[in-house]
Amino acid sequence: MRLGKVFVLDHPLIQHKLTFIRDKQTGTKEFRELVNEVATLMAFEITRDMPLREVEVETPITTAKCRVLAGKKLGLIPILRAGLGMVEGIIKLIPTAKVGHIGLYRDPETLQPVHYYAKLPSDIAERELIVIDPMLATGGSASAAVQLLKDRGARNLKLMCLIAAPEGVKRIQEDHPELSIYVAAVDERLNEHSYIVPGLGDAGDRLFGTK
Ligand code: PRP
Ligand code: URA
Repeated sequence: MRLGKVFVLDHPLIQHKLTFIRDKQTGTKEFRELVNEVATLMAFEITRDMPLREVEVETPITTAKCRVLAGKKLGLIPILRAGLGMVEGIIKLIPTAKVGHIGLYRDPETLQPVHYYAKLPSDIAERELIVIDPMLATGGSASAAVQLLKDRGARNLKLMCLIAAPEGVKRIQEDHPELSIYVAAVDERLNEHSYIVPGLGDAGDRLFGTK
């Protein structure tokens, strides 16, 4: 088995936008826009290994050997709710991607993920899937989502988050060692409520203006 890697996407534009995402003064509208913008920028890196095949096109001048995407099609799997905040930003680049939804929330007492919904493309076994969630805290939610996808036949998976805690990275590496993780930042730690420090607060609440 090939071990997954952790990619910290430290492009200056990503880091610049992440600063304003973290800032508690940033309101819902701007937060939403920034999260989608960072998702677009991260999508460049996460799709870097997509295979290409050669085609010929007629330019107005002559025939040119060019390349188009080949191989597996993409599926985006946002974890509800907060994962939704990154979908539009990726769809902008890859409009043919199908989107499956997994509903999970983290029980505030036990911190265990509670599963309440799943609607997936029928052909997930043939797709390259990107599981999307802004926050990888204890890693329980992402690990459960990946397990659900594997149980339903998925074979080709990546995980994309804005901010991870070291604890969450470790959990994914233990539960799904083959999975590569793409993040904009790995923060210091979790606090006593298992929120990421310094983090950005509650991603779902900030995206949807709840609380
Ligand atoms: C947040 C976040 C992740 C999860 C991360 O969702 O979007 O799904 O917590 O925590 P974990 O790594 O410790 O499992 P939340 O449970 O707040 O649900 P929501 O998006 O519906 O608000
Ligand atoms: N969920 C969030 O939205 N933020 C955290 O810091 C941890 C879990």
